[in-house]
This record gives sequence, structure tokens and C-alpha cells, in this order.
Amino acid sequence: MIPVIAIDGPTASGKGTVAQLVAQQLGFHYLDSGALYRLVGLASLQAGIEFSEPQRLQKLCRQMAIEFRDGCIFFGKEDVTEVIRSEEMGKRASSAGAVPEVREALIELQKSFLKPPGLVADGRDMGSVIFPQAQLKVFLTADAKIRAQRRYKQLIAKGISANIEVLTKDLVERDLRDTQRETAPLVQSEDAFLLDTTDQTIDEAVSQIIAWYQKV
Ligand code: C5P
Repeated sequence: MIPVIAIDGPTASGKGTVAQLVAQQLGFHYLDSGALYRLVGLASLQAGIEFSEPQRLQKLCRQMAIEFRDGCIFFGKEDVTEVIRSEEMGKRASSAGAVPEVREALIELQKSFLKPPGLVADGRDMGSVIFPQAQLKVFLTADAKIRAQRRYKQLIAKGISANIEVLTKDLVERDLRDTQRETAPLVQSEDAFLLDTTDQTIDEAVSQIIAWYQKV
């Protein structure tokens, strides 16, 4: 069986950075499932499709030409790596993710990332829905204030202006929507290891996950 490490958790918990480093150190492939939902957010905006139109959204997801190449994300010929990272696309991704038809349409695409020698998958339902067979499941989280500060620093470093109060409010709202939706809500599965990175560096979190993986 091809090994999978599933890393789930709330927004701005550092999952993405940690998951990519774990994949790099183990020589595994990496799936950023949030990018797929963000892309649905962008593609639906471009196509003028509302979140109240599940059938049209589903069709859009099935036709979406997405390619991960050289660290960039392409939508057709368009390089969308940066544009899907915006707060607006994060919010749209969260609304798209609450539509069961969207989640269903993305299942096969996500599973297709599983290739030898292994996969590190990051998202909200990697261990609970997409890769329930994962050898290691991690629920990575951190205090909401710390997450908002991390997101703030990220945006400022990119030269994007941000307001910490607005970021905290958005983050709490997104957590609420992600944990309370009916389909595939964000929850810590019983078989997932809890990793609270509030007082941890990225390197410490990466080492902890690799140590767990070597033991399972
Ligand atoms: O991880 P990221 O912040 O890029 O995800 C953006 C949004 O996409 C999340 O807030 C969540 O609502 C949605 N998402 C999801 N399921 C996943 C990954 C992301 O519903 N597996």
C-alpha cells in the first residue's frame, strides 16, 4: 500500500508549510487540497456561478483543468498561484467547500495524487474522508490569536496590507463554517495525533510528524 500522511486542521495553522517540508524530507508527493477549493472559488467567480447553484458548480469542478507544475498552480494556461492565496479566495473556498456536490466532484481528483513513493496530503478531511487508510493522521492546530498573527506576518511580508482584528474575525468565522458544515466538517478524527503548534517552531512540528511516521 502506498503510504499517506494526512494533515488536517484549521486555517492558518501552518499546515501547508509543515506538510510541504515533511513531503520534501521524505521524498513524497504533496497535495494541497485547499488550493483545489480556492480554485473553485476563483473559477466560479470568473464563470459567474453562485454558491446556490450546486449542479452548475459540480459541472465546473469536473471540467476544471488544474495543473501543479514547478511549485506553481495553473488553471488552464493561467498561473493562479498567487491570486488563489488572497483572503477573498479563502472565503470563497470555504463557501464552495460547504457545497456537497463540490466535495463529491473533487474526490477522484484528490485521490489521483496518491502515487509512489508516498503522499503528504493537507486539508480538512484528508484523514476522515479522502484517505481514511492513511498510515499517519495528524490534526494540526494552534491558538486562533497566534494563527491570525501568523497570517498577518505572511501578508505583510508579501507587501499586502492587513488588519489583525479583521483577520482574526475572518479566521474565527471560517473555522466556524468549516467545523459546522454538514458534509465532511473539520473534526479531529479519533485516530489522529493532535499537534498544537501554538508554542512550536515549524522545524519542531516537522520533526514531530516525521518521528510519529517512523513509529507507525
Ligand atoms: O487550507 P486552505 O486555507 O487553503 O483552505 C481554504 C478553504 O477550503 C478552507 O477554509 C476550507 O473551507 C476549504 N477546504 C475544505 N476541504 C479541504 C481543504 C480546504 O473544505 N480538504
